[in-house]
Amino acid sequence: MKHPTETDALGEFLISARSLAEYRAIFELTDTDLRGRRVLDCPGGAASFAAEAAALGARVTAADPIYARPAAELRELARSETERGSAYAGAHQGRYRWDFYDDPDHLQAVRLSAATRFGTDLTAHPDRYVAAQLPALPFHDNSFDLTLSSHLLFTYADRLDADFHLAALLEFSRVTHGETRLYPLVDHTGRHQDDLVAHLRNELHDKGIPTTLRPTHYEFHHGATTMLVLQPNQN
Ligand SMILES: C[S@@+](CC[C@H](N)C(=O)[O-])C[C@H]1O[C@@H](n2cnc3c(N)ncnc32)[C@H](O)[C@@H]1O
Repeated sequence: MKHPTETDALGEFLISARSLAEYRAIFELTDTDLRGRRVLDCPGGAASFAAEAAALGARVTAADPIYARPAAELRELARSETERGSAYAGAHQGRYRWDFYDDPDHLQAVRLSAATRFGTDLTAHPDRYVAAQLPALPFHDNSFDLTLSSHLLFTYADRLDADFHLAALLEFSRVTHGETRLYPLVDHTGRHQDDLVAHLRNELHDKGIPTTLRPTHYEFHHGATTMLVLQPNQN
């Protein structure tokens, strides 16, 4: 099994900063999904989801290997990585559908605002941000009512193999009492990962974990309008 290294986490993997509005759209989240619920965001990256959802009354934990870094370094990384991500999207505009975001400048503004909110929350609520690296998470079984995983699995299918994906999904299932929702099911170039998704769904089915493909109204990579949902283990 290929395991990512610390260098991967800081170099190859983009540390992006999505907002609660983006998570709401991506995962079709309602206030009922969040208020009073124990929610895991893994990988949390520099997203402001944890800060904003906590303000709504969710009990959020964000997990990511980058949280082992000092807060000042993370704040700078959140900003520089946001610029790197926006520049990448701007250089490959044809890969994306521009309606949730007006254009690359709007995308950058949304993400810089999220990165700033993340940076502030990191200092105010350090306990919310747990340094952890899939496929092993430092949480007890059934610690969360809902797990959200955005832009790691499938996104980096070029360097994370099928065994890693399966181990990570089983780990999400172990720590989650309710649903685990994952998006997108395309890689970072927009290539659909249908074979990998089908393989993983079969493996999970054999282990007693039902899965569904659920539509989402969010679309940035063309045709990426589906999330993978893991239901609680039936065994
Ligand atoms: C593209 S960001 C996504 C962040 C956030 N979910 C969002 O949508 O904005 C990918 C994140 O995955 C993290 N990451 C890389 N390897 C990981 C691993 N093995 N376990 C957990 N997170 C990992 C990186 O540090 C990075 O912050």
